[in-house]
Formats: sequence, C-alpha cells, structure tokens
Amino acid sequence: MAQGYADFHSHLVPDVDDGSRTLEESLYSIGRMVEAGLDRIITTPHLWLSHAMGGRLAAYLEIHDHRWTSLERAVRAQYPELDFRRGFEVMLDRLGLDLSDPRLRLGGTGFVLVEWPLHRIPSGSPAILEGIVRSGLVPVVAHPERYHGIGPGLGLVREWKRTGALLQGNYGSLAGQNGPVARAFILRMMQEGVLDYLCSDFHGRREYTFYMVQGARALRELGGDEQLAVLGKTNPARLFDGEAPLPVPPLSLESAGEAAPVAAPGEGRGWVDE
Ligand SMILES: [Fe+2]
Repeated sequence: MAQGYADFHSHLVPDVDDGSRTLEESLYSIGRMVEAGLDRIITTPHLWLSHAMGGRLAAYLEIHDHRWTSLERAVRAQYPELDFRRGFEVMLDRLGLDLSDPRLRLGGTGFVLVEWPLHRIPSGSPAILEGIVRSGLVPVVAHPERYHGIGPGLGLVREWKRTGALLQGNYGSLAGQNGPVARAFILRMMQEGVLDYLCSDFHGRREYTFYMVQGARALRELGGDEQLAVLGKTNPARLFDGEAPLPVPPLSLESAGEAAPVAAPGEGRGWVDE
C-alpha cells in the first residue's frame, strides 16, 4: 500500500488491555502498520468509565503513563518519522466522567473515541453523545457496524451524527472479520456517505491478522478508491490536525456489480479477534 494513511484506533500500549502484551509485540505490530502505509498512529487502549470513576482515574492513568512512556521512547528510536500519539477508546458504561484531561482524547485533539458497552447500544444513546458535544468535545463512535441490535437501517447512526458525533468503521469489517452483517452495515454507511473514518482497531499481537490491507483491498475491488482515500487518509489526517472530516462521496455498489447489502438482524454478529 502507498503511504499517507493515518489511524487513530489500535491497542498497542503493552499489558493494559486485550491488545499487545509486551513491548516487543507492540514494536512488531507498529512495524506491520508502517509497512502497510501508515505514517500517523494514535493508539487507544480501552478505558471503562466505571473503572475510572470515584477518584480512581489518577491511579489508572498513572499506570498507563508509565507503559506509554516506555513505548513512546522505543517507537521514537525505531520509527523517528512516525507521528505516534496516545488516546483511549472510552467505553461509555457510566455517565458523567469529565473528559477534559487531554490524555483521554485522541492525540491531544478535541476528538474522543467512544464505544458502547458489551457491544450493545444503550437507550438514549444520542443524548449521551450530545452531552459530550455540549462539553466542547467531538465524540467519534468506534465501529458502529459491530453493535448488536443496530438493525439494517441507518436511522440511529444518523441521529448520532445529528448531535455532532462522527463515525469510525473498521477495515476488518470490510474484509469479513466481523461477519456478513457487519460487512453489510459498513457498506450501507458508505453507500449513504455517513461514515467518516476507517481505522484498523488492531489488537497488536503477532498471531493476529492485520486487517487493514485486506479491508482496503476489498474496498478497492468494489470501486471505492476515492472513498478509501478520504476515509483512510484525508479524514484521519485531518483529525490529527484537529480539523473536522470532509464529506465522503457515496459509494456506488451497483457499478461494482454487487447488489446493495441487506443486513439481516441477528445474523453473524460477534467480534472474533482471531
Ligand atoms: Fe478497539
């Protein structure tokens, strides 16, 4: 793949979540990402709000700071050209955490990567996102295509977007990593031009498939070169620079000879991390 890709969703801080376990695994995984054409990476360990509330955030972040510092030092030495930053994938399992600490946001910007707990969307999800927007931040909802019960229609994701939230899909979903329903849903978002970003969500282990290359190939095979450039390069790069994403031209699947995807509720759900 050519260079110029940027990615703000991965789990590469060693030994803090279900991502990479050691510094060696992290460096190996970053090598694969650089080889695939990424020259800007924000890595985003999971943060459960319920684990970080009640005065526990400072202790939680202290552990992360320690791990992050060793990783950052090693990455700077090995990949001096790489724009490498930190963030979190914030699981919204509680309301009310103050997200003003820049470490909780994506690479020091005003964007914050969020996900719903247990792969289920709580009731009142637009109001939750609205609360984040009201605090002056921009929530980016991770992999909408992976949630249970989102249904085949785009009504809910459109409601999220109306609050000012943005949508990040996973390359792996295009390559079939998350089953046919997730693939159908991500393609539907692209057909309607509502998806803003594509990221790897790479969990940073040697034995894991790095789906970015396969996902990008799958999109190209559908005639989505233009969409790939905006979703994988332009818009994520703009996020690094603190800028809003550009509109993404709708993907025409008819011209690729593929029928419009129809997601069957309940079919093929579930995230398999290999
Ligand atoms: Fe993730």
